[in-house]
Amino acid sequence: MTKHDMAGNRPRILLIGANGQVGWELRRTLAGLGEVIAASLEGEYGPVIDLLDPASLARLIADSQPDAVVNAAAYTAVDKAETDHETARRINADAVGELGALLAARGTPIIHYSTDFVFPGTLDRPYTEDDQPAPLNVYGETKLGGERALLESGARALIFRTSWVYGARGANFLLTMLRLLRERDELRVVDDQIGSPTWSRMLAEMTAMILYRVLRGELDLDEVGGLYHLTGSGQVSWYGFASAILEASGLESSLIPIPSTDYPAPAKRPLYSVLDNRRFRETFGLAMPDWRISLDQCLEELR
Ligand SMILES: NC(=O)c1ccc[n+]([C@@H]2O[C@H](COP(=O)([O-])OP(=O)(O)OC[C@H]3O[C@@H](n4cnc5c(N)ncnc54)[C@H](OP(=O)(O)O)[C@@H]3O)[C@@H](O)[C@H]2O)c1
Repeated sequence: MTKHDMAGNRPRILLIGANGQVGWELRRTLAGLGEVIAASLEGEYGPVIDLLDPASLARLIADSQPDAVVNAAAYTAVDKAETDHETARRINADAVGELGALLAARGTPIIHYSTDFVFPGTLDRPYTEDDQPAPLNVYGETKLGGERALLESGARALIFRTSWVYGARGANFLLTMLRLLRERDELRVVDDQIGSPTWSRMLAEMTAMILYRVLRGELDLDEVGGLYHLTGSGQVSWYGFASAILEASGLESSLIPIPSTDYPAPAKRPLYSVLDNRRFRETFGLAMPDWRISLDQCLEELR
């Protein structure tokens, strides 16, 4: 039994980035575990937190006295990061290291997220946690910096590397496709980048299930802490993903597969960034369903 069970009081969970697409889902899935202190840049649901201001981070930890932290905030504008390296680094790397140091000092566990974009995408099999990262873009480089800073801080941390996140809310491929398919008769979509779509809801649910066990003292982060790959199962190209969205939505439009070279963007993307989830599955006994199942469930909800 943990101190919370014995005292009958509820653990305090500090959620950073509560207004992002994953953070928004986490506000719901974490609610059953304890008191959620939902911090965000604009303070929509609780305290304001700006990761560009390290003093505000220290203040937030001191004021909220959390028993656990989930950090869903990040600089996620992949193309913009190419010309805004400094801001991306401060939010994705420096602030994560500072957060780690604050939590290491008080022994507070943290769950944090990283990305498939830490890999160059040159393998012909799913990437494992033991594969060498080599990001192709600034976003991936700064997220890798965050992973390293958190691990080096000595905090009791779990880092979930995820990919291709979509959901019913936020800026994501699913919502963009649904809008464009309604507006246009024809759409060109990249067919040579392969990855694993991940529903933000599933990511938030997996996080809550793991955190429940951490808070009860059933999972010792000194033993199982570290990096894990956590994505929807299966793999598909953006074109394949768009085709599944078109089919399930029943909209009238048509899709044309194109190579990445026909869709130039400031940031280079990996061609193959599927993540092997075996370590997560074997350690925690949980796995996300196939991406098609989650897509159908998310679309059901949108309807
Ligand atoms: N989306 C993906 O496809 C994807 C793929 C792999 C990994 N990930 C990782 O998954 C995690 C969650 O991503 P997401 O998709 O939920 O991203 P998101 O929707 O962009 O949410 C990120 C949140 O961070 C907040 N934020 C930005 N700058 C901040 C600052 N200076 N201080 C405090 N908060 C700040 C944003 O606030 P505003 O909304 O007010 O700007 C936003 O609410 C991130 O670690 C991301 O790197 C995402």
